[in-house]
Amino acid sequence: MDFKAIKETYSEIDKEVAVRGWIYRIRKTSNVVFIVLRDSTGILQTVFAQDNFNKQEWDALNSLGVEAAMEIKGKAVSQSKAPNNVEIQASSFKIVGESDNFPISKDFSPEFLADVRHLWIRSRKMTSIFKIRSSVAGAIHEFFRKKGFYEFDAPILQPNQCEGGSTLFEVNYYKDKLYLTQSWQLYAEAAVFALERIYNYGPTFRAEKSRTSRHLSEFWMAEMEAAWMDLKDISEIGKEEIKFILKRVLENNKEDLGILKQDINKLKKIAEKDWPTITYDKALSILKKKENMEVPWGKDLRTIEEDNLMKHFDTPIVVTNYPKEAMAFYKPKDPKRPETALCFDMLAPEGYGEIIGGSQRSTDLEELKSSLKKEGEDISNYEWYLDLRRYGSVPHSGYGVGVERVIAWICGLDNVRDAIPFPRTITRYKP
Ligand code: 4AD
Ligand code: MG
Repeated sequence: MDFKAIKETYSEIDKEVAVRGWIYRIRKTSNVVFIVLRDSTGILQTVFAQDNFNKQEWDALNSLGVEAAMEIKGKAVSQSKAPNNVEIQASSFKIVGESDNFPISKDFSPEFLADVRHLWIRSRKMTSIFKIRSSVAGAIHEFFRKKGFYEFDAPILQPNQCEGGSTLFEVNYYKDKLYLTQSWQLYAEAAVFALERIYNYGPTFRAEKSRTSRHLSEFWMAEMEAAWMDLKDISEIGKEEIKFILKRVLENNKEDLGILKQDINKLKKIAEKDWPTITYDKALSILKKKENMEVPWGKDLRTIEEDNLMKHFDTPIVVTNYPKEAMAFYKPKDPKRPETALCFDMLAPEGYGEIIGGSQRSTDLEELKSSLKKEGEDISNYEWYLDLRRYGSVPHSGYGVGVERVIAWICGLDNVRDAIPFPRTITRYKP
C-alpha cells in the first residue's frame, strides 16, 4: 500500500489508507489510544482500539510519546470531532523512531525554545512560517525572471564595506582580513554593464550590536540592480515585487496564514491598494503635525519615528530623499535638492519597519571619492569600484529587500528571529 500525505486522506472517507509521520498529540485511555499524527501537510486523528491489537502491540502503543515516528494503516471514517472531520480507525502500525520524553512539553519560554530550536522547528507555527518563507523565495525568483532579470552571484567574502564599517564581520583569510558580505550591491554594479538587469537572493551579514526585534546578524536579502533605471523606476518595481510576494503567499499559504491567525482579507486589501510615495521632508512634517514629534532635519529616521509615521498608513509606503549626509557613500545627491540623496526606503505598516533600502547610484567619481573619504575609507581599496565610473558608466539603480522583515510582517511575527530557521543574533548563535 502506498503512503498518502495526511492532507490527501481528508478526501478518502471509507477507504483504507496508510500514512506516516510524527506523533503530534497522544491520549491514552484504558481501552483506546488516540494519536494525532503530523506530517508536512497537516494533522490527522487516528484511533487504536485495544481489541484490534495483541498484548505486545498494545504495550508498544502505550509506551509511545510525543514526536515518535510511525506508520499507521487503517480505514478513514468521517468524525466531526476530529481535525478536518476525518479519523483513521487503525488496524496496524509500525514504530519507526521512538521518542522518550520530548523536551518541549511545559516550558515555552522564548529562551528555552531558542535552545531547542532544532526540535521547535517541527511545531505547526514554525512549519507554516517556513512554508511561507519558501513561497516568498519562489515569488522573488519568479518575479524577476518574468521581468527578464538574470540571477547573478557575488562573493560572500569581500574586501570592501558597502553599508558602513561599523557592522562588518571580519574573517581571517590566509594572511589577510576580509569581511562577510554586507550587500551584493557593489559587485552587481560591475555586472549591470554586462547583463543590464540582475537580481539575487542570498545571505547577508551584519554585526548589529543592539538587540532589537528587527535585526539579525545573518539575514537574507533579495537585491536587484538595473542599468538605465532611476529612483522612480526602481521604487515602483519595489512596490510591484512586494505586492507580487503577497499575492503568491495569499494563493499558496491560506492554511498557514490561518494557523498563524493572520487576517487574510486585510492582506488582500493591502495587495490591491496603491502604496504612497512620500519624501523624507513630508515624513518629518507628518511626524510634527500628527504626532507632535520634532525630528531635527538631517537625522535618519529611527524605529520610534518610523513606527509613529506608519500609524498614518495602512499599506507599505516609500520614503524618498533622505538627507545625503546620513546615507551610504554610493547614494548620489539629488540635483533638485542637493542636501538629499536619490534614495528610498520602503516601510511596512504595523511596526515592521524598513523592508527595502535602495537608491540610484552615484556616477560622479569625485562625489564618490569624497564620500568614501568622509567614511574614513582608503580610496585605493575601492579603485576597482571607481573603475566602473571610468569605463562606460551609465545611470543605474538598485535596492535590497530584507526577506525576514517581509516574512515577519506577512506572518504577523513579534520578532524577525522566527522568520529564519536558525537565527543568528548578538546573543544567539546555537544550535
Ligand atoms: O538598507 P540596507 O542596508 O541596504 C543595502 O544593503 C543596499 N546595499 C541594498 C541595495 O541597494 N542593493 O539593507 C536592505 C534591507 C533593509 O531595508 C532591511 O529590510 C534589511 O535589508 N536589513 C536587515 N534585516 C534583518 N537584519 C538586519 N540586521 C538588517 N539590516 C538590513
Ligand atoms: Mg537601510
